[in-house]
Amino acid sequence: MRRHLIGIEGLTKEDIYSYLNNAATFVEVSERELKKVPPLRGKTIVNLFLEPSTRTRVSFEIAGKRLSADTINVGASDSSITKGETLLDTARTLQAMAPDIIVMRHKESGAPHFLAKHLEKTSIVNAGDGMHEHPTQALLDLLTLKHHFKERSAGIEDLTVAIVGDIRHSRVARSNIWAHLALNNRINLVGPPTLIPEEFRHPRLFGEKINIIHDLKTGLRGADVVICLRMQLERQTDKFVPSLEEYSQEYCVNERALQAANPGCVVLHPGPANRGLEVSSAVLDGAQSLMQKQVNFGVAVRMAVLFALATGKTVSEGKSE
Ligand code: NCD
Repeated sequence: MRRHLIGIEGLTKEDIYSYLNNAATFVEVSERELKKVPPLRGKTIVNLFLEPSTRTRVSFEIAGKRLSADTINVGASDSSITKGETLLDTARTLQAMAPDIIVMRHKESGAPHFLAKHLEKTSIVNAGDGMHEHPTQALLDLLTLKHHFKERSAGIEDLTVAIVGDIRHSRVARSNIWAHLALNNRINLVGPPTLIPEEFRHPRLFGEKINIIHDLKTGLRGADVVICLRMQLERQTDKFVPSLEEYSQEYCVNERALQAANPGCVVLHPGPANRGLEVSSAVLDGAQSLMQKQVNFGVAVRMAVLFALATGKTVSEGKSE
């Protein structure tokens, strides 16, 4: 059966661990001198990136190549979408060439789900759709944490996770929220009221699992993990903060603010980062930051996802909308 990975919402804890455990195998491959294994030989993967991306696109391409798949990259400027072709027509054209997987990044939320519904023979991987989800980012964040907390008896469970900043516009935040809810972790959403979306304010739905906190130090208190988010100015149609200067005074994750967190707390950032705005350089380059590890584990996670979808050895798809 054809499978997709559209989102983390709807995945169970077991689904998540299944991806992470497969990824652990590929971490080992990435540490070899010859970093190539044969399982996807003869498979074709199209990386359809219709929004700017450096790390995610390169990471998917390396992942496909390390699995011996043939990978083809299509960007916004070299696709016929700039000539007025609809997304569906572009995708149907690509499908006629029988790729096994299309990895897709798109500025509209729901675009990968739309393709998954309309293409019969190709698996779709969401590499970030608008403000909706970025499932492989959440999985690579979890793999990074799993590695870091490997000596901890509860592993990546029973953690307090503070997600700080522009949550409203962040697909990384949404995918991580669903992931940490599945793992039953405590989540603090920290930021100004204007940047915290209504959807997570329902105590009936989220019980005590999600706390919404507008003061940075209070939000970081007791945190084991801090996920910093980029201020996504390109998505902000309104003015959500009085000024960037005031925002950074209140919400920049710096060494002083981090003192409120648990000793041993680690800091994640999906990149690209606005240094000095949402996170200080001292924190980003400091001992608590796992940012480079995230990029490193990203390749293994994407190998696990591509492998699972292309070989059929996979878990459920996750809710699509
Ligand atoms: C993120 C994205 O594009 O959603 N970046 C990434 O994939 N590493 C986060 C961001 O752009 O802020």
